[in-house]
Amino acid sequence: MRPVYEDTDDLREFETEECCSRPIPKGWWILFWGLIIWGIYYIYAYTPAFTGWSQEKELQEELAKDPVIAQRIKAKTEPAPVEEKNPLAGDVKAIALGKELYVKNCAACHGANGEGGIGPSLQDKVWLGTEREITDSEIFKIIAKGTDKGMPPYEAQFDKNAIWSMVSFIRTLQK
Ligand code: HEC
Repeated sequence: MRPVYEDTDDLREFETEECCSRPIPKGWWILFWGLIIWGIYYIYAYTPAFTGWSQEKELQEELAKDPVIAQRIKAKTEPAPVEEKNPLAGDVKAIALGKELYVKNCAACHGANGEGGIGPSLQDKVWLGTEREITDSEIFKIIAKGTDKGMPPYEAQFDKNAIWSMVSFIRTLQK
């Protein structure tokens, strides 16, 4: 067959007519079939209906192997249990600290004496819009988590003691 020399770039292999009947390299076939077989295996192995595999199950198995990490993840993802009762209730030092924190962080919205302003009064018995009693741990939660109606969350800024101290202080504001 007569070679077809197109341009002058000397890439004869590609430009002769025999080019196109050159056998496909073995490695290519191996890769080709290998990937197909691997693909079938992969779909089989990771389809829950075939093998019962699931992300959740795999996670649990991994965690079972490593209790230390499991504990750490649990500590991070589960909210820390909040004591029902304020451990610092009525504590004079805590009230003083709570007042200091309150004046710096909360007074702008709730008033210097908790009389209210941008935020609601902390002196009355109306909590989140309803007149009722409120537990210390509920007040803790409002301060820690905030609300979707304008009360910012403070858990990143204050530790538990600081928040309980503010709860103690808020209790002194009530009339
Ligand atoms: C940007 C203004 C703002 C700041 C700052 C702020 N709050 Fe609030 N707070 C609000 C608003 C608004 C509400 C009402 C939220 C609602 O009804 O969901 C609220 C509600 C509350 C409540 C529930 C009171 C009630 O009568 O319903 C408490 C307790 C509270 N805040 C404590 C604090 C403390 C403690 C701080 C400081 C660490 C603080 N807040 C800082 C705006 C603020």
